[in-house]
Amino acid sequence: MSEAKRLAGEKAIDYVEDGMIVGVGTGSTVAYFIDALGRIRDRIAGAVSSSEQSTARLRALGIEVLDANAAGPLKLYVDGADECDPHKRLIKGGGAALTREKIIAEASETFVCIVDPAKQVPVLGRFPLPVEVVPMARSLVARRILALTGGQPVWRDGVVTDNGNWILDVHNLSITDPVAMETELNQIPGVVSVGLFARRPADVVIVGGEPPRVL
Ligand code: 5RP
Repeated sequence: MSEAKRLAGEKAIDYVEDGMIVGVGTGSTVAYFIDALGRIRDRIAGAVSSSEQSTARLRALGIEVLDANAAGPLKLYVDGADECDPHKRLIKGGGAALTREKIIAEASETFVCIVDPAKQVPVLGRFPLPVEVVPMARSLVARRILALTGGQPVWRDGVVTDNGNWILDVHNLSITDPVAMETELNQIPGVVSVGLFARRPADVVIVGGEPPRVL
């Protein structure tokens, strides 16, 4: 429970317009947004969800969850982050939902990222970078990441993503060029997605506080 997360999540409701299909991320900050969305559920047409976890919460509040293919382009996506730099580039995937989150971010006109102040960093990389991998490629991808970045990949043992894949968390990175690193790691066979949201950063960042700050 965090007051800053609640304040950020509730502030994001300002971006919801009547009749919208809302893209919804994953995590404890987003849970506050979903709860607030539940209070205005009659004003929206439904949601596209980034995880089974968020889908369950949305449905429990009576919000219809739509298939991303049927919904098409979205006007709004609201999601949290593990780190956010001054250019609104993000590390995401602490909740292992990065692939679906990235798909919805890409499909959305406006990406509103909701964070508590602890997520703000000058340079990305203090939080271990999540990378979703096809299970048979885990060891190959780990070797390639070590060679390319010098970071230490650690298997998030026991975690299986909603897509049936595994997660490597890459420690000890200082990501001075996030676009280049995202592009490079995306090329490794077996990488499903990289938890860097730099090629498609957030458009708006809401930092929870009293009052919330909108960047
Ligand atoms: C899930 C994510 C989350 O947005 C990120 O982990 C932040 O979570 P929280 O709001 O619980 O701090 O990327 O994959």
